[in-house]
Amino acid sequence: MCGIIGIASNKSVSSNIIQALKKLEYRGYDSAGLSTIDNGEINEKKCSGRVNNLEKMLFQNPSNGTLGIGHVRWATHGIPNEVNAHPHSSEIVSVVHNGIIENSNFLKKELINKGHKFKSQTDTEVITLLLTDYLKKDNLIDAISKTLEKLEGSFALGIIFKEHKNLVVGARRGSPLAVGYGHNENYIGSDSYALKTMTNKISYLDDGDFCILTNDKIEFFNSKRKKINKEVSILSNDKNDSDKGDFKDFMSKEIDEQQITSKICIHEYIDKIRNDINFYNFSIDPKKIKKIRLIGCGTAFHSCLMARYWIEEITSIPVDSEIASEFRYRKIRFNKDELYIFVSQSGETADTFAALQMCKKNKASTCGIINVTESSIARLADFVLPIYAGPEIGVASTKAFIGQMIVLYLLSLKISNLRNEISKDDYLKKIKDLKNLPNLIKKTLSKQNEIQLIARDFINSKGAMFLGRGYSYPIAMEGALKLKELSYIHAEGYPAGEMKHGPLALIEDGIPVVILAPRDRYFEKTISNMQEVIARGGKVLLITDDDTEIISENIRFKFQIPKSNYQLNSFLMTIPLQLLAYHVALLKNCDIDKPRNLAKSVTVE
Ligand code: G6P
Repeated sequence: MCGIIGIASNKSVSSNIIQALKKLEYRGYDSAGLSTIDNGEINEKKCSGRVNNLEKMLFQNPSNGTLGIGHVRWATHGIPNEVNAHPHSSEIVSVVHNGIIENSNFLKKELINKGHKFKSQTDTEVITLLLTDYLKKDNLIDAISKTLEKLEGSFALGIIFKEHKNLVVGARRGSPLAVGYGHNENYIGSDSYALKTMTNKISYLDDGDFCILTNDKIEFFNSKRKKINKEVSILSNDKNDSDKGDFKDFMSKEIDEQQITSKICIHEYIDKIRNDINFYNFSIDPKKIKKIRLIGCGTAFHSCLMARYWIEEITSIPVDSEIASEFRYRKIRFNKDELYIFVSQSGETADTFAALQMCKKNKASTCGIINVTESSIARLADFVLPIYAGPEIGVASTKAFIGQMIVLYLLSLKISNLRNEISKDDYLKKIKDLKNLPNLIKKTLSKQNEIQLIARDFINSKGAMFLGRGYSYPIAMEGALKLKELSYIHAEGYPAGEMKHGPLALIEDGIPVVILAPRDRYFEKTISNMQEVIARGGKVLLITDDDTEIISENIRFKFQIPKSNYQLNSFLMTIPLQLLAYHVALLKNCDIDKPRNLAKSVTVE
């Protein structure tokens, strides 16, 4: 998965391409490149590493031209080096691509047999050479259509041509592509966020569409080459906090912001006067729901796991939490009166989107819990509950996780209320408690110094375990994911009660074990599991709201979260785990906002 940008203008485009690519780096950052039409020729520049490297290259050797395309890469086919970086150009055409061409091996053979030579190991180069081949005898529209028809898999494309010096072509199938309208220039980009500094007027291509932009005109076509019109959306003018301010990195800023983003989210959904939760336009009558399936990837999947405990406890609805990449290929028996909830920060994760498409095809009721409300998932789901977290830039998700959990918690309360499965008093009490969550998050964040000290103990360890039961189990999973993605330390999140069935064999002298044991109905059992770990030499960090002096003398560290409604402990325990992963990574000098091999938005399978 990658990020693409294209600009047709009447002034030089390279610096705007670079600025847009910097915003797209969340989609991939192992190499970068751009092509412009410079003096009538395709001028391609590319390098391995970050957009900064490309910028330095341009500084020494500028690219001129009033039209161009750019790319940031997350390698799928071929190692991340200069040759495999995009654009991929022939004499007459240059292409940037996000997605995977699944029949590229077959097409490659065909093209080689026709005498074409490949320079890279990528799947993308087949697109360049197919276009080059068709353009020998076909006009532009026919060449584009014939090329797209040959491709299997997913793509968003940006293309420029030596012979058509004033136009950029965009096309999509499976991968997202936004189109922006500017003043004397027009744009295509993988998302509207990348275009936002240049324009707030956006349209979106649908699957199979392509578009042709010049600096003063945009034409849209569907897969049958028929000209079509597109709705134009005006993007909201949120100040797009894409600035680190005084923070060292986006992740520390985003962790800190949780005291505010949680407040905004709660504020958006709770009616102050009626003390009620505002959810309208359910795609299915909550009283009739017979089953709920929650679907997501990575951190978003962990919020799905969390919600299962809440919904099962306060409603009578059976719940499944599903990893999207598995769900989309299972043989699902869709039944009437089921609700499918898709959780995604970006709203662009390919597996989650494909799972949603499968549900839509089967006419299931769908809901998206999304941060980026202009995203593909938000646009396709029957109804959308935004999480109001604001732009999340750090690759490791933090404030979006808290936002997803708040919305899922509110959803479980509201469904339970509408089904008369929760008493009025309990409902109101839970809403009241939730309103205090931002204060409790603030209190927890103020104890960051404690975690800074504890982090020193983790940096030389080969691995770590995170254990919890019930509501704490999904949080243990999330804590382990944060540690591995940020600090590259192997970590496992496990249900504490399952340790004895295998993982206990991993416990040896000095291995760090994080135990999540708030005073809920699992407390005593988790503490027993903790003793088993301590007895085998595990170095325990206990995270709890219990304030009794000594649970065990052999606990190495204890981090106390504030006392609250037991269902809110999950939110509060998340904070020290985010801080722990952050400080361990910082001490190990890891790239906090862009961990190796990862990307913020995974738009390929
Ligand atoms: C990537 C990110 C994770 C994120 C996951 C799902 O792997 O690095 O932080 O949890 O994608 O992303 P989504 O945008 O669907 O929440």
